[in-house]
This record gives sequence, structure tokens and C-alpha cells, in this order.
Amino acid sequence: MTVHPEKNQQVARRRRGATIAEEDYEDIASLAEARAAVQGCRRCPLYKDATQAVFGEGPERAEVMFVGEQPGDREDLAGRPFVGPAGRVLDEAVEKVGIDRARVYVTNAVKHFKFTPRGKRRLHQRPDAGEIQACKFWLNLEVGFVRPRVIVALGATAAQSLLGKGVTIGRLRGTPMTLADGTTLFVTNHPSYLLRIRDPEARALEQAKFEADLAMVRDAVASPAGRRH
Ligand code: URA
Repeated sequence: MTVHPEKNQQVARRRRGATIAEEDYEDIASLAEARAAVQGCRRCPLYKDATQAVFGEGPERAEVMFVGEQPGDREDLAGRPFVGPAGRVLDEAVEKVGIDRARVYVTNAVKHFKFTPRGKRRLHQRPDAGEIQACKFWLNLEVGFVRPRVIVALGATAAQSLLGKGVTIGRLRGTPMTLADGTTLFVTNHPSYLLRIRDPEARALEQAKFEADLAMVRDAVASPAGRRH
């Protein structure tokens, strides 16, 4: 598995007598164990109001991993990532450029839904840096077990989680990066950004840019160089 910078802190915590909320990497031996353990996560306060943690989904040895921000209202209720409107935009674009959706692992940087109640509605709130960092534990496990060849950060939160710092999507998109473990990282917009654009022409333009980014992902996956599985 990849080297994790948080490891020393976790070992120290364990020596002090960690709680069940502070599972160490070595206590979790598989993706299935991680999926079960995340329901007990207390690493940040977001578990208190969410219905459940939403773990990633897809083949255990997927070559491509898409990382979104956090589950939305629908995902929180269903317990599955990207099953709402943003997921539809993603699925359609993935299919259009010719990436086999069945071979893709989809997850989020943050596993619990963060929201503000407004009447009967729950309005999405962006996770903060502390929440993103706390939840990196779970994303690290997913990346470590799935070992994707290519990771796609959908939006600024996912990019921040994967790169460890705040970034501007416009500056990074279109150029693949190599992470410390050799994984290729692409950064693009979050599909919900497309849903928020009202002007049809502007939306079509952004949709085309999104699909162009995904076409680069398709080509990177198709290239024989650096196969990991
Ligand atoms: N937006 C995300 O970032 N992830 C989801 O799972 C759904 C919407």
C-alpha cells in the first residue's frame, strides 16, 4: 500500500490507547473491511447529522477511480455515491467518451453529507480543510486497495484532498500529474458545476470541456504504459 504521512501520528495515538473511531491502517485488511468500518467513523463531526457514511463503489481492481466531493442529499439517503443529478451528468459523459462505466470505481473525498437544514430541504455545504483531511484516511484506504492506474479529481475538494493543498481547477485541468505512488491524476470540474450553469451556450461549452478532459482519461487508461493490474 502507499506510504501514508499520517501513519506516525496514528501509531502514536494507538500507543496512547486509541478509540474505535481511530482505526489504524493495519487494522483494516480489505476494501470490504474499510466499507464496514467507515460507518463507525468519528474522525470529524459530520457523522452526527448524516444518515450514513457513503463509501465508494465499483470493481475492487478498477483501473480508473473518480473522486467527487461528498455525498449529496440522494446519496446520503441511498448510501451510494453519485446516484443523484450530478451522477447522471457524470455517467452520461463517461459513456459518451467511451469509458466503460462498469470498470470505474466512484467515491468521494468526504464520506458524510454536510448540509444546512432549510425547512424540509437540506442544503449542501462545502466541507472544510479539516474535514477533507480527516476523511483522507478513507480515501487513502480506497486508493491503496483498488490501486487504480488513473484517478480523476472531480472539482476542487477532491483535488485538495489528493494533492494536499487548495488548487484552482482551471490551472490544473488538461495536464495529467503523477502522484507519489505513480498513479496518474487528472483534475476536472465537478459535474454539479455543469448543472448550475443556466446559460445554454455557456453550459454546452463547459460540457464540451468536461468531455474533453474525460477523453484524456480514456486515452490514458487505454495506453499500455504503466499497467498496474
Ligand atoms: N456530488 C459528489 O461529489 N458526490 C456524490 O456522490 C454526489 C454528488
